[in-house]
Amino acid sequence: MVGPRLKGRHLLSCGDLSEDEVWSLFHLAKRWKSEKGNGEQRTILSGKAIALYFEKPSLRTRVTFDLAVHQLGGHPILLSQAEVGIGERESAKDVIRNLNRWVNGLVARVRQHQTLEEMAQYSQIPIINALSDREHPCQALADLFTLWEKWDGLKGKTLAFVGDGFNVSHSLLLLCAELGVHCRVSTPKGYEPNANIVQRAKERANRHGSQVLILNDPKAVVSDADAVYTDVWVSMGQEHEAAARLEVFRPFQVNDELLKGAKSDAFVLHCLPAHRGQEITDEVLDSDRCLALDQAENRLHIQKAILAALIGGFFDGTGDRS
Ligand code: CP
Repeated sequence: MVGPRLKGRHLLSCGDLSEDEVWSLFHLAKRWKSEKGNGEQRTILSGKAIALYFEKPSLRTRVTFDLAVHQLGGHPILLSQAEVGIGERESAKDVIRNLNRWVNGLVARVRQHQTLEEMAQYSQIPIINALSDREHPCQALADLFTLWEKWDGLKGKTLAFVGDGFNVSHSLLLLCAELGVHCRVSTPKGYEPNANIVQRAKERANRHGSQVLILNDPKAVVSDADAVYTDVWVSMGQEHEAAARLEVFRPFQVNDELLKGAKSDAFVLHCLPAHRGQEITDEVLDSDRCLALDQAENRLHIQKAILAALIGGFFDGTGDRS
């Protein structure tokens, strides 16, 4: 049984989860999604409060975590950087030492991943990474869950990420490797994913029969891919680099021409928000093959499973790996 092992744990990185743990979250999310908010899920966080802390703007993460806590019977408390001021008004250490006394879990979107790591050192409650400059694990879990729904299996499939080797690509690399999905990433030179994360992904891939490939050629990674993923070229906090980035990333746009190299039934993924006409064209984003809105919807379902397992100590029982 893997569920109980998740109780009380942090989720800062996709590297924190084993294959069995991911599958237990996927199966729980699938079951609860089909139950449409009925049944056991309504009381799992009953009597529990969850702090939702945002240092950066959000639509999807904010709405889906708030809804997820409500649908599990808990009480979400929304906190902004302007109010809490981690690192300005108060240290990360002191913020978490206070939160320990009041709430049962913290969901945090931070500028620097280091803030999460610092809080985790002093935390007596689970901390869930809702995006940092290193990773976006809840997004990647929703993404692979979405592909599993479409394909009814993941092992041996190929995901091609085209764009910036930043937080989303890091989480996808680590998660795909663990689930036996081949992950190819193509970025402009100088924008490759973090070398330590690539190394960790390769180690996980070796154990699970998957491959990790990092190139600078978008056509090469898309060739025969089962899914093509892109994200914005200018992430939050990188606005001062916008002009240079828009220039260097131009050949990495996901458009109909690039997709000719992928499998004819390949899906396109985007975590949103999208910058239409930059990393993705209107035609592709609005096409039937694009799963962006399914990914957004599934943020709710996978995050309910994460909250239930880490904070509610809930376990579903299935050990299925497909
Ligand atoms: N994909 C995602 O995390 O969206 P938000 O930034 O709107 O939360």
